[in-house]
Amino acid sequence: MSKIKTKFVCQECGSEASKWLGRCPGCGEWNTMAEEVAVKKSEARLTAAPAPKPRPINMVDTSAMPRLLTGISEFDRVIGGGIVPGALLLIGGDPGIGKSTLLLQVAAGIANTYGPVLYISGEESAAQIKIRAERLGKISNNLLIFTENNLETIVLEALQQKPAFVIIDSIQTMFSPEIPSAPGSVGQVRESTGKLMRFAKESGIPTAIIGHVTKDGNIAGPRLLEHMVDVVLYFEGERSYAFRVLRAIKNRFGSTNESGIFSMEEHGLAEVANPSGLLLAERPQGAPGSVVLAYLEGVRSLLIEIQALVSTTCFGMPRRMAAGLDYNRLILLLAVLEKRVGLMLANQDAYVNAVGGFKIAEPAADLPVALAIVSSFRNIAVDSSTVVMGEVGLTGEVRMISRAEARITEAAALGFKRFVIPAGNLSGLKLPRTAGLDIIGVASVSEAMEAVFV
Ligand code: TYD
Ligand code: MG
Repeated sequence: MSKIKTKFVCQECGSEASKWLGRCPGCGEWNTMAEEVAVKKSEARLTAAPAPKPRPINMVDTSAMPRLLTGISEFDRVIGGGIVPGALLLIGGDPGIGKSTLLLQVAAGIANTYGPVLYISGEESAAQIKIRAERLGKISNNLLIFTENNLETIVLEALQQKPAFVIIDSIQTMFSPEIPSAPGSVGQVRESTGKLMRFAKESGIPTAIIGHVTKDGNIAGPRLLEHMVDVVLYFEGERSYAFRVLRAIKNRFGSTNESGIFSMEEHGLAEVANPSGLLLAERPQGAPGSVVLAYLEGVRSLLIEIQALVSTTCFGMPRRMAAGLDYNRLILLLAVLEKRVGLMLANQDAYVNAVGGFKIAEPAADLPVALAIVSSFRNIAVDSSTVVMGEVGLTGEVRMISRAEARITEAAALGFKRFVIPAGNLSGLKLPRTAGLDIIGVASVSEAMEAVFV
């Protein structure tokens, strides 16, 4: 009897080795190599359709590719104007963030217009899904629930049913019997995704895969899946807040600049028409330490309040805390304020929070964070009709940011009158000369302080 051939695969990055290694040669992680049986992949085609032949590009027929609209306009926009036939989508996000809820709503939307949708769940029972669908008010005869983990059975069933859309919830619970390792391992996840990709491409049925994100932010450990699929969406948010952002990380059929904003309500996810208004609803007026930032989420401009609290420390080491912002960026800004502006912050605790649960990773937040800290430190409020934006450099200079116009326009629509922006953005600004907008260009943090604290 021939010996079964095995290989060792890194559960983080998918690197392979013929023998066990303590440290993965690919990503350098320790103790991630797991033994898997080396299986020769069967490349048999799933359908009886003839194998494609090379042909001139202008002979390719695209007329039969109308995009499926889900009826959830935020979702349709993020994926580039509807789901393309044969596309394989990956929706990633933290457990419990609302991926199943979103996809159930998408499924119901498609089922209403285009016919049966196959919702395959390896995580929840059919009854659980029904209860959720009832709660969402999305019960439809066209919504087929299939609780199964074996991918071979799933593909056979899907080929037979010929639904308009297939949803796999989640890829970590699926397994392919050809591979002996457990569901959720790199080998299984990769093999299952490969099978689903062949299914989607050959049948032309668009398929969505839900993937849980590991603690370091990768889908199923490896980023391997991201290059296999056509569209990668991340569903993000802070679980204790209602806001959720759907972001396109990769899209073969559209731009990755779009993002959709939802709010998790009692009856499922609702589209938010005016997120800035909601985010600023509870803003205190005339309170020191509060500054409004015009933040760019994809191509969408959002107004977010930055709050800072600076108080004298009771201990030897001052505490610094950043919620919704990068901690290291906060430390850097405190150092700039200390050295370039001359504020004595070494004996001050500093807490900074981006209100609403958004994770802000944009340099334009630097200046508002710095001004919020100064405002709290000096106990002087910033005028509540002011919006601040700008990147801060290590010498205390304020650097240019992208799409200043879009940010100003959004803020002006909500009644903001004063804008503190980088001096470099001032010349290129093409705004209609509408009355009453006071736009101030600043070249350094000190200038910004002069403009704000008069
Ligand atoms: P779920 O879609 O199960 O998350 P995931 O599939 O990403 O793990 O949703 C999880 C949370 O959403 C759950 O904890 C409760 C909340 N939720 C609502 O607030 N309202 C609703 O109508 C639904 C269905 C869920
Ligand atoms: Mg789920």
